[in-house]
Amino acid sequence: MKEIVLQTKIKVCSYNELSADDREVVDAARAATSNSYAVYSKFNVGAAVRLKNGVIVKGSNQENAAYPSGLCAERTTLFWANSQYPDSAVLTLAIAARTEKGELPVPIPPCGACRQVILETEKRFGETIKIILYGAKESYIIEDGIKALMPLSFDSEFLE
Ligand code: THU
Repeated sequence: MKEIVLQTKIKVCSYNELSADDREVVDAARAATSNSYAVYSKFNVGAAVRLKNGVIVKGSNQENAAYPSGLCAERTTLFWANSQYPDSAVLTLAIAARTEKGELPVPIPPCGACRQVILETEKRFGETIKIILYGAKESYIIEDGIKALMPLSFDSEFLE
């Protein structure tokens, strides 16, 4: 029997070890947690993307009394960025979260649905997205894009 071993490379670093460019996107994601509408979960998530045209777009989770009608920070941000700048690839995506106790010390990973949308965004522009998961104590940098977080993923290639 053959075996497939899948590996994911994640760099772990402190906030101070991030490059100035990465800190800018991370800081936008952290700031975006203040605009979160998380009245039900009290879990404030912020996301930010740096686009190829230099623009940084940020967004946050937006909840709804009919729970599934809400949307995560990552998809709010990506959909807004892609709808405003449909010709500009997403280069970097940062995610941060905060509760009533303050910023989370550990990195916040994107949910499955958001991973699928990140994958579609990579495919759409043909560019790997650098993903930075911010935590106050330590952050994760995923340089290889969404495939590292979602191996064996379904994308448009299977429809051809
Ligand atoms: N949430 C995000 O915005 N992004 C994630 O990656 C995980 C979860 C939101 C959805 C919901 O508003 C709240 O966090 C609790 O699940």
